Amino acid sequence: MKIIVTGTGTIGAAVAAAAAQAGHDVVTVSRSAGDEQADLTDRASLDALFARIGPFDAVASCAGEVFPAPLAEATDEQWQQSIQSKGLGQINLVRSALPHINDGGSFTLVSGILGDEVTPAMSLGATVNGMVEGFVRSAATELPRGLRINCISPSVLAESTEYLPYFPGFAPVPAAEVALAYLRVISNPYTGRIVRLHRTD
Ligand SMILES: NC(=O)c1ccc[n+]([C@@H]2O[C@H](COP(=O)([O-])OP(=O)(O)OC[C@H]3O[C@@H](n4cnc5c(N)ncnc54)[C@H](OP(=O)(O)O)[C@@H]3O)[C@@H](O)[C@H]2O)c1
Repeated sequence: MKIIVTGTGTIGAAVAAAAAQAGHDVVTVSRSAGDEQADLTDRASLDALFARIGPFDAVASCAGEVFPAPLAEATDEQWQQSIQSKGLGQINLVRSALPHINDGGSFTLVSGILGDEVTPAMSLGATVNGMVEGFVRSAATELPRGLRINCISPSVLAESTEYLPYFPGFAPVPAAEVALAYLRVISNPYTGRIVRLHRTD
């Protein structure tokens, strides 16, 4: 398969490595690194990206920023930028890729533990994750041509040591395990699924 991996960070690098190891042809994308450049918050750059790279079989989204703050202190800019990037950015990634993806192809988006579990200052992240997961569940019922869509919801990553203090008492998940979940939903007939890599009980 030809797989487009957006995001070259902790999750994106692990997904790209796992996909390449499984024998797939991987194209990596971010604003400033990777094989191709595009910005999730710039719809025209997404349209240009997919027109440029031609047909492909899967999009694995491993990017999208959230700018968290306590509810009473979060600014309009923090809300707007988070929704524009991780929320609408991933939705527009799918919309821009739709005319170019091969029949039977798949989209895999990313949400996260916030929304299912409770941490301080979680409202912004939980809202955006809910937006992504709601889109995935509904888009799965509307996608044409046998296309599939799923969402990976990781716990905090073991490699993201800077985030660990914000998730006291939560078991971190290794990036390699997250990458396997992406490969699982890309390679099998999953659709409309939120694959949670965290314990909720
Ligand atoms: N790490 C965790 O613990 C964790 C847990 C659960 C969920 N998540 C979610 O997983 C996603 C990836 O997390 P990560 O830890 O792998 O992030 P990361 O290491 O910070 O890497 C983010 C990647 O996305 C790219 N990117 C950011 N904004 C972009 C944009 N507007 N357009 C295109 N590319 C963009 C960045 O490259 P450029 O700067 O070059 O664009 C970078 O390659 C995020 O949505 C995050 O919320 C992360």
